[in-house]
Amino acid sequence: MATVPVNLPHHRYDVIIEPGALDRLGSIVRELAPHDRCALMGDMTVFSIYGEKATAALTGAEYHVVSDTFEPGEKFKTLDTVRRMYDVMLDQRLERRSPVVALGGGITGDTVGFVAASYLRGVPFVQCPTSLLAMVDASVGGKVGVNVPQGKNLIGAFYQPIVVVMDPFTLQTLPPRELRCGMAECVKHGVIRDADLFTWIDENLAKIQALNPDTLVELLRRNVAIKAAVVMEDEKESGVRAHLNFGHTFAHAIEATAGYGVIEHGEAVSLGMVAATTLAVEQQMCSPQVLEQLAALLDRIGLPVTADLPDTDTLMNAMRLDKKVADNRLRLVLPTKLGEVVIRNDIEDPAIAAAWQAIRQ
Ligand SMILES: NC(=O)c1ccc[n+]([C@@H]2O[C@H](COP(=O)([O-])OP(=O)(O)OC[C@H]3O[C@@H](n4cnc5c(N)ncnc54)[C@H](O)[C@@H]3O)[C@@H](O)[C@H]2O)c1
Repeated sequence: MATVPVNLPHHRYDVIIEPGALDRLGSIVRELAPHDRCALMGDMTVFSIYGEKATAALTGAEYHVVSDTFEPGEKFKTLDTVRRMYDVMLDQRLERRSPVVALGGGITGDTVGFVAASYLRGVPFVQCPTSLLAMVDASVGGKVGVNVPQGKNLIGAFYQPIVVVMDPFTLQTLPPRELRCGMAECVKHGVIRDADLFTWIDENLAKIQALNPDTLVELLRRNVAIKAAVVMEDEKESGVRAHLNFGHTFAHAIEATAGYGVIEHGEAVSLGMVAATTLAVEQQMCSPQVLEQLAALLDRIGLPVTADLPDTDTLMNAMRLDKKVADNRLRLVLPTKLGEVVIRNDIEDPAIAAAWQAIRQ
């Protein structure tokens, strides 16, 4: 097992990574947020597999458990889902000290986190992520929120959990495509911050794919440590936290033009990282070897490195609508070598268009 501390100026919490941790969920939460009631919320798929176990763990720690579930998918990461949870919690008279546990992937963590941030102006929030993406990325850092018709994640808050409890055994039931998508974020962490992690993933890929428990603990520990370090440096994304957007400005344009849900986020991030690195090579900021290593690893993971894409003008327009545009200039995170990136807002459109061309099938 491993514990990664997250130390913020106003708040500290632990990320507990432990095979079988779900069985200890109740005692972990009770130590930090003792109360007679708690809420356990998640999507229906995850609840059908792990709801009973999590409920038993919380009941065993003498909580009366109030639950609500919603249909999985971005379509349900909405204010309607939030509103329903408020109703359940108000009806069951959950109080300021009642902890709220999010059990599931990033959609659950973001949605339930927003409920926890706003219910009675904020109640103790516990993240129990069950997808690889939620474990290595979404559950750490305190960004919570929901989608509205105008765009993704436009309504939300920064609200830190009191603890994050991750049980790598839950990854055994995660669909393989979702596992690959989580791996895209792990590779991203290697490129932006940690060349050793990049090499370690390359060398241990077979064990990761076989879900070896020790290897998964190490994968999670290393990735959570990177995400935590970035968040500790820049909680509210005014500086270095933007490095986490490596590949994402391209990815968001791909997702927006393909229609959300057609291509998975992790797949779009994979393509986006290849496009951004191609651009960095073309700008002579980074050696072509980095691009070769990156594309080879993504391909071995089973992530796309080229795709059938809409025309370049459509993609360029979608990129400009992304929220990372500041003063009408695209801010791109580009690698200079494995483990190091810089932010550039001075790249001309024809160079970006050429990068799109390079990942076109
Ligand atoms: N808050 C942040 O910092 C942050 C960072 C990155 C992404 N996100 C958000 O995360 C969301 C994506 O997260 P996600 O990829 O986890 O999506 P998700 O929550 O939809 O989970 C993916 C799918 O896997 C299923 N699932 C999850 N765990 C499972 C398990 N152990 N066994 C079987 N099925 C399981 C879910 O039911 C769902 O169908 C997006 O909404 C994105 O905006 C947030």
